[in-house]
Amino acid sequence: MGNAFSGLVKTSQFVYTDKQWQDASDTDRLLTAVEVVKKKRNRIMEDIRRSDSMKRIDSPELAKAFIEEQIKEVQAQVGDKKVLLALSGGVDSSVVAALLIKAIGDNLYCVHVNHGLLRKGEPEQVIEVFQNQMKANLIYVDATDRFLDLLKDVTDPETKRKIIGGEFINVFAEEAGKLEGIEFLAQGTIWPDILESEAGIKAHHNAGGLPEEMDFELVEPVRILFKDEVRIVGKELGLPDNMVYRQPFPGPGLGVRCPGAITRDRLEAVRESDAILREEFEKAGLAGKVWQYFTVVPDFKSTGVKDGKRTFDWPCIIRAINTTDVMEVTVEHLAPELMDRLVQRIITEVPGINRVLYDFTPKPPATVEYE
Ligand code: XMP
Repeated sequence: MGNAFSGLVKTSQFVYTDKQWQDASDTDRLLTAVEVVKKKRNRIMEDIRRSDSMKRIDSPELAKAFIEEQIKEVQAQVGDKKVLLALSGGVDSSVVAALLIKAIGDNLYCVHVNHGLLRKGEPEQVIEVFQNQMKANLIYVDATDRFLDLLKDVTDPETKRKIIGGEFINVFAEEAGKLEGIEFLAQGTIWPDILESEAGIKAHHNAGGLPEEMDFELVEPVRILFKDEVRIVGKELGLPDNMVYRQPFPGPGLGVRCPGAITRDRLEAVRESDAILREEFEKAGLAGKVWQYFTVVPDFKSTGVKDGKRTFDWPCIIRAINTTDVMEVTVEHLAPELMDRLVQRIITEVPGINRVLYDFTPKPPATVEYE
């Protein structure tokens, strides 16, 4: 078959099992390989499906083979054209960014929209990893004021979510409009997104459902991967562990953990207490073991006392849960020493908090997030 087809053969190995691959004739293998590549060249993303026989990527070697294959695929798909990516800093978009930087370098334009509802240190990490280390073309937009101004006095959870989602699209579309000659939009769609969207469970628009008139062709290099595979690929691409193994984080970010109308001071209390919780879980060896953990600062105050004086401040609620499918959730019970340390640190280090509570409620009846 010669070297010219080695890339094609590799492509097909992910579609065949080893046995089927060995049993196939050279002609069959070549035809299949050409078919697969032609299909992808035809850019019909919908047609690219995970085959039942595809090997689970569970080792650095398989991740490496996948990366090499995808680099060729992406290069074949986009050529020397420009690609735009909404880079949230979450696992999927980060892995797509790292992969595309390898495949097309400067022709990738990453837009990181900071909506002011990200966790402490997250925008800084996106800049450090992608701009400073990986030398990506990163457009960083600090849109904090825009989002918080729009959210001012908005108490209804669904309205808050709509505002955040809608404004994200506005900011992203504005940035896209400033760039010349973008023909492709990269997305961190993964295989469960496709399955859930086909089953009618949720829409899988990772970019938040971009308007139809943003007529880009899609580039979805991890669309046939499960989440655990995306993480292994991310690790192989050199992304830091705290990016690759991070816990789930909702699109509306800390906005849903600052129930009711968001104010800057209460949002800051959520952000600071969340950072303390993450730091203490890391130290206690719970990061990566507990499925999801965060703090919530509700919009009511209670009486307290500090330095002999009355205080009237918010409580901080800690939630730490385990689950496999997020339909049913159990509560992680913390060691008393850890609980005490968390309480001490939060009440002394976070302005506006005078009480720490623990949420012992499973799902159902309580959802994971508060809004
Ligand atoms: P609930 O609150 O529905 O959350 O029990 C289940 C899981 O989904 C996460 N979550 C979101 N993830 N966008 C996301 O990508 C969202 O808008 C969103 N809202 C909730 C939540 O953190 C939990 O892991």
